[in-house]
Amino acid sequence: MFPSLQVCVIVSVCLTCLLPQCVHCSGCKNPPPAKNFTNSRYYGLWYEIGKIQTAGGAFFEKDCVCTTIDVKPLSNSDVRGDASVLNSCRKKTPQGTFLNATGKLSDESPAGKWKEGFAWFAPKVDYTIIALDEDYAVEYDCGTTLGFTNYCIHILSRKPTQSPEVTQKLLTFAESLGLNTENLKYVQTLQTGCW
Ligand SMILES: *[C@@H]1O[C@H](CO)[C@@H](O)[C@H](O)[C@H]1NC(C)=O
Ligand SMILES: *[C@@H]1O[C@H](CO)[C@@H](O)[C@H](O)[C@H]1NC(C)=O
Repeated sequence: MFPSLQVCVIVSVCLTCLLPQCVHCSGCKNPPPAKNFTNSRYYGLWYEIGKIQTAGGAFFEKDCVCTTIDVKPLSNSDVRGDASVLNSCRKKTPQGTFLNATGKLSDESPAGKWKEGFAWFAPKVDYTIIALDEDYAVEYDCGTTLGFTNYCIHILSRKPTQSPEVTQKLLTFAESLGLNTENLKYVQTLQTGCW
């Protein structure tokens, strides 16, 4: 009766399921956590300086500016290393509405490597801190769902700024571990006008 509508629905359903699949087929890497990693050094507020991210990764981060993460040990479970991560950002502009999502880090093994989950129905991803210092951290997360892989490399700083030399050093390090399997571009996160 409405053939064009039917075709439209079928085409959009197929596009939705086909599009991401064969773009991201390379699988996750298993890098070691930072040598001097300790949980307490990672706790607290971090500003995202930039990231390398596949299109299907963390869809809520798509419009983010002024992005921060706040890592806190979960009470009663410090021994196991479980932690909460508040991912917070503004939508599109520093005055935009908050887009917040709290994830949970669990199953820490070894120190600096967790599973991260956002909701009981969503698949967990591997979450690894590959570099850590007083001023900076690099976090790599990666998951494979229905045969396709999404990853993100986050460059983090204790301040909303980072010297370009440090950023470059951290990116070179991440590349040296072979984490950017799809040769994606580094994208800087807007942090000016936010704080
Ligand atoms: C989002 O998180 C920020 C902390 O970065 C907080 O100030 C803000 O109130 C939160 N907003 C919402 C709507 O949860
Ligand atoms: C951690 O290791 C890195 C790389 O070896 C080093 O640059 C940094 O100073 C160390 N940080 C701490 C807090 O020990």
